[in-house]
Amino acid sequence: MITIAVLNLKGGSGKTTSAAFIAHALHEAGLRVLGVDADGENESLVQWQSLGDWPFPVVGMAQPNLHKNLPGVADDDRYDAVVIDTPPMKEARNIVLSAARVATHIVCPMAPTGMEHSRLPAVRELVADATDLRDGEKPLFAVLFTRTVANASSTEVYRDIVTEEGDYVLKVPVARKEQFAQAFGSPIENALSTAYGDAVTELLDLTIDEAGKVASA
Ligand SMILES: Nc1ncnc2c1ncn2[C@@H]1O[C@H](COP(=O)(O)OP(=O)(O)O)[C@@H](O)[C@H]1O
Ligand SMILES: [Mg+2]
Repeated sequence: MITIAVLNLKGGSGKTTSAAFIAHALHEAGLRVLGVDADGENESLVQWQSLGDWPFPVVGMAQPNLHKNLPGVADDDRYDAVVIDTPPMKEARNIVLSAARVATHIVCPMAPTGMEHSRLPAVRELVADATDLRDGEKPLFAVLFTRTVANASSTEVYRDIVTEEGDYVLKVPVARKEQFAQAFGSPIENALSTAYGDAVTELLDLTIDEAGKVASA
């Protein structure tokens, strides 16, 4: 079973949208998916699941001991993939840290801008803290550019910067699109054919090499 936590420092970074589409892409790929809503307060995954009549369950677990409780809810017998949407770290770092402690994969959605890039050190620190609490076992961390503007140079500029800083950036960015802006509360169809499909396919093909770097398998 894989467990993907979607996290970032603040609200408005595309966490919930990314969690929703990633979960649907995995479902469409034939995996048995469980959504976990560790936020609950903002536009939440639980709400969206019910409004949008999703074909897989979402449970609410906005808990600082999520890492202890999740194994009782999700195991290999019932699920192939768990996708956790998290609250902004700024508001509930303890819950996000707990999610990072159970994650096999961590996806950080961010726009390729100076402002959002300046939040990455806090995210890296949380991943490092989670790694320590897991006795050094690293979750696979990947940045996903979202809300990108077609043909803007910023995407490649920030890809180079973030890569240079040592993090893995997923190849296909998620463009700023009405389809995503209007998605909350509606059913999601054909997620696999969006950039989130590419993101999921790439993510599942990544490993952590001997030097501790994320790389293609
Ligand atoms: N790729 C995108 N294109 C356009 N709007 C987007 C995109 N991704 C997210 N949004 C919008 O940005 C806002 C914040 O997204 P959301 O996923 O709720 O972020 P978070 O969960 O981090 O607060 C929402 O109004 C959402 O519809
Ligand atoms: Mg959210």
